[in-house]
Amino acid sequence: MKNLILLGPPGAGKGTQARTLCETFGFVQLSTGDMLREAKEDKSELGTKVANIMAKGELVTDDIVIGLIEKKLASEKNNKGFIFDGFPRTLAQADALGNLLKKINYNLDCVIELYVDDEKLVQRIIGRFSCSACGELYHKITKPPKKPRICDTCGSEDAFNYRQDDNENSLKIRLLAYYRDTSPLIGYYHALNKLRKVNGLGSVNEIQDNIRNIIL
Ligand code: AP5
Repeated sequence: MKNLILLGPPGAGKGTQARTLCETFGFVQLSTGDMLREAKEDKSELGTKVANIMAKGELVTDDIVIGLIEKKLASEKNNKGFIFDGFPRTLAQADALGNLLKKINYNLDCVIELYVDDEKLVQRIIGRFSCSACGELYHKITKPPKKPRICDTCGSEDAFNYRQDDNENSLKIRLLAYYRDTSPLIGYYHALNKLRKVNGLGSVNEIQDNIRNIIL
């Protein structure tokens, strides 16, 4: 069993790489972004609070996010391993994850930092969309669907979805949150001898190969 964290700024390719690693190795992807997008769909007080924070590009509070991860770890049955995508994002979340894993006797094998310069991140985020039926990720220029309006993976028609926080204003705040609150985790995991760095520029397959060379 392998448990990994994918760490990197918005648009670094964490979701893209996590999906492929899960397909190939049977890992389970735990994306706090996806969990929060699901939570905001129910019109509860919590859902509305989360929706407002995410639309602005700010971080949702540690207690909410840690609660979501704790629940998922308790309910997901899997013996291949977990990929934590977009979690942890603060030092408090990193400490909480360490304690949660210890409690269930799981090890954290490595933390892959995907690094990409800011200019490229903006291009990737502004062009991104996904299939709301199966979650496949696309990009207007680098990865358009083979047939317009139809998902390559599941064949759904007109199901493409654009994220509300994928605009230049929210992205500035998301990048600020990354450098202010999340980038200290690079030092944290380096000190624990868990950190491995992967260049997030290049083709999706090249990056995937570099990650595989680290984890296998
Ligand atoms: P989240 O959903 O986690 O978003 P993010 O971290 O901002 O990351 P993204 O999903 O934007 O990017 P990615 O690295 O996954 O890139 P992708 O593979 O999609 O979080 C959203 C919000 O939720 C946060 O702002 C916050 O409010 C809240 N939140 C979530 N987790 C939280 C936490 N732990 N604590 C507090 N708040 C939290 O790729 C992007 C695009 O680039 C795609 O179009 C893709 O096709 C393209 N692409 C990918 N790889 C390549 C490549 N190699 N070459 C060319 N194009 C590529």
